[in-house]
Formats: sequence, C-alpha cells, structure tokens
Amino acid sequence: MRPPTPRTLRSRRPRRPRGLHGKVATAATAVLLTLAMAAPAASRTEERTRSYEVTGPRTAAQRTAVAATGASVDAVRRGSVVITADAAQAERVRRMGYTVRALPGPPDRSDGRRAEPFDFPPADANYHNYSEAMAEINADIARYPSLMSKQVIGKSYEGRDIIAVKVTGTGTGTGAKPADGTAAAKPEVLFTHHQHAREHLTVEMALYLLKEFGSKYGSDARVTKMLDSRVVWVVPDLNPDGGEYDIATGSYRSWRKNRQPNNGSSARGTDLNRNWDYKWGCCGGSSGSTGSETYRGSAPESAPEVKVVADFVRSRVVNGKQQIKAAIDFHTYSELVLWPFGWTYNDTAPGMTQDDRDAFATVGKSMAASNGYTPEQSSDLYITDGSIDDWLWGNQKIFAYTFEMYPDSSGAGGGFYPPDEVIDRETARNRDAVLQLLENADCMYRAIGKEAQYCR
Ligand code: ARG
Ligand code: ZN
Repeated sequence: MRPPTPRTLRSRRPRRPRGLHGKVATAATAVLLTLAMAAPAASRTEERTRSYEVTGPRTAAQRTAVAATGASVDAVRRGSVVITADAAQAERVRRMGYTVRALPGPPDRSDGRRAEPFDFPPADANYHNYSEAMAEINADIARYPSLMSKQVIGKSYEGRDIIAVKVTGTGTGTGAKPADGTAAAKPEVLFTHHQHAREHLTVEMALYLLKEFGSKYGSDARVTKMLDSRVVWVVPDLNPDGGEYDIATGSYRSWRKNRQPNNGSSARGTDLNRNWDYKWGCCGGSSGSTGSETYRGSAPESAPEVKVVADFVRSRVVNGKQQIKAAIDFHTYSELVLWPFGWTYNDTAPGMTQDDRDAFATVGKSMAASNGYTPEQSSDLYITDGSIDDWLWGNQKIFAYTFEMYPDSSGAGGGFYPPDEVIDRETARNRDAVLQLLENADCMYRAIGKEAQYCR
C-alpha cells in the first residue's frame, strides 16, 4: 500500500475546533480570525454566493430545474422562488427565461457594536452559539438528572461533539407487557436540528424542547404521560462547524453546508441534507459539484456528521426492531410540515404504500393545523435526494417529517435570520405539534383508523 502524501494526511486530519470559548476572545482567536478573514481562494469563492428572487417558476418541475443549476431553493411562492446562488448559477437561471433580482444580504444585527468572535451579533445575543447551547443543555441535565442524560454520539469534521440527549420519565409506559415479564419497550421519537448552518432557530427549538420537558414533567399531565411512555432523543446540533463558521466574524455569512474540505477543490462543504444513504444522488435533487449549495458529498454518509447520526439511528435497532418510530428534522424557513418522499413527485412508490402515505398526511395535516404551517409532501416544493426524511422512512421505516420553521417568507420575518425577539414565540408554537407526534408515535396508522391492521 502506498503511503498517503502529506497533503492527503493534512486534509484528512480532523481539525481542533478553533473558537470554543464562548464570549472570551483570546488573542489567539483574534489572530486566527484575522487570518481567516484575509484567507484567499476559499473565502473568495464563498463570498460570491448571494440570495436572489427568481420570478417565473411556478411548478415543482420548474423549481427542480432551477435547483439543478446547483443553487439552493430557500423559499417557494406562487410563481417565484428565493435562491442562494453564485453568479454563474444565477446566470444559468436567467438563461432559462426567468427574471432574477439580487436581494439584500443578511441583516446587520451589530447594533453598531463589535461582536465577539464566534458569537452572535449583539442584537441577537439571545441566540446560543455552540458552547452556550452545550452549557444550557448540561445545566438542564444537572437540574433534571432522573429525566435526562447525554451521550456524545460522535464528532463533527472539525472535532466538535455531536450529542444526543435522552429524555424519558420514570414511568414504565402503557404498552402491552411482553409475556416473559420484561418491561414493555417504550416507542422512541427522534428530534434532529441544525443540518443547515444558517438555520440557527432550530437549535433554539431543541433548547426549548429540553426546557419544556424538564420543567413540565410531573406537573403537566400531557407531558408527563408522554415522557412516561416514550423515549425522546434530541440531537440539538448536527452541524456545529457550519453554525460556528456562520457567526464567526460577527456578521452572518448565510452558510448552509458543513465545513469539510473537498478533494481537488477550494470550495468547502457538503449539504448534509443531500448526503443520506437512500437513493443518494438518484434523481436530480442534489449536485455533484463541490461548489454547489446542494453538493451531495463524494459518497453517501461521506460527511462525518451524517455518518454519526445515521450510526446512532442504526444503533436503536434492538433485536432486529427499530425502536424509533417517528421523527422531526427541524429547518428554517417557510412554515411547512413536510413528509417523504422527496426523490419522487409520486405520492406512493416502492416503500411508500397508500396507507403509509395517508398516515403521514393525516398526522402531518393535524400537526400543521396546530402550528399554522402548510402541510405537503416535500417534493411538492422540488425534488431532493439523499435527504434525512427519505432515509429515515425509506431505510429505517421511521415516520419522519421535516418542519420548516418561522418565518413564512424571506421578507418581513428576516429569512434565515429572524431577530432573537421571536425565539420564545416561534419555538413554543411547535409545542402542540411535537406532543401530537409523541402521542401518535406508538401507532401512526391509528390516525387513519387502521390500528388493528398494523399495530396489533
Ligand atoms: N429546504 C430543505 C432542503 O433543501 C428541505 C427541502 C424539502 N425536502 C425534504 N426532503 N425535506 O434541504
Ligand atoms: Zn434547511
């Protein structure tokens, strides 16, 4: 075997995280930050992407064609979309005959003050950066030790911990006891957050869930019943490297992907939500170009963050049975409740029967009725392949939804960067939907009146 060249070694070695000190800006960080901001090729490539309004596309097929340029489609309206694209991609969209208008960059939330490196700008100080989120979670666990515990399930490319928080009550659940006298297994439900770096509100959603479960267990009957009869897993941050990169300079960078280098390219990053191992790259719903916002990676699970979470999900197969029954993957923005499949426009497909689809849609619409989001199949937007919800359902038979949180459009609400004043309202807005999913998780087919057929 030929020894790897030093270059390969260097690019493969996971980096140590550079800025994990929260609000403390050390001299070393300042120096590194200055270097990072002056960095040549890579950041020049990255600066070229910006957001555009594209007027004209009105069908899912037309939006899929726009996405096929390598741009990410960030919002869908009747007759227009908002995309993140570089100049070449924007030009290709223009040549499709659509009107393309550059939109303003991310909001300036500095309040005229300088932000600390690796922290949110002063006006958004109530958002949690990575170390603040981890500290908050550790405090919750310390406060509710019999209810919550934490596992480090693996590391990000740059070496940050990816954690899963387990939440379950001391009750034994309501399920039928196995004949051998062992305790009945509690159905498990998974919440995943922050695949996309700039979607910081989703980390706040995870923090909200942990606080709500912790503070209401034992006093709120609905929460208590669910936590006694379910096991909840919260993976609060799938993309810590991207999230920290997005806020590193004090002004938002609209970063989406992870921060993994790509062989033979100055462009960094894989779109984690195109890297899952189900119909990966099958159907024009992702890009093979490293510079694309929707780059699918060099192989399924080539992104360490995806591999870590996929391995965790597989580890919940006990005696040949996946214990996780239902899931929500939180994103922003558009206020949507989405269900699989993303790889095909068809409602049913191999691996998605009419009853499966009806159970998905019935629970999805009921959750959407409570939070005011719009319910639809994910491919009603545009085709995606290698997304987490398709993998969780197609590969693991977990009823997996994608929630696109506040705001509903890119205009008034701040797009990917809603002000921190909305955090409490927009996370609590999903309380009922989350409880509904927990309540349905033991038998999703009950929602379509087919419990006897599927769940006995
Ligand atoms: N906006 C998200 C993305 O581009 C979700 C798109 C909907 N598709 C899906 N499979 N959930 O990754
Ligand atoms: Zn997203």
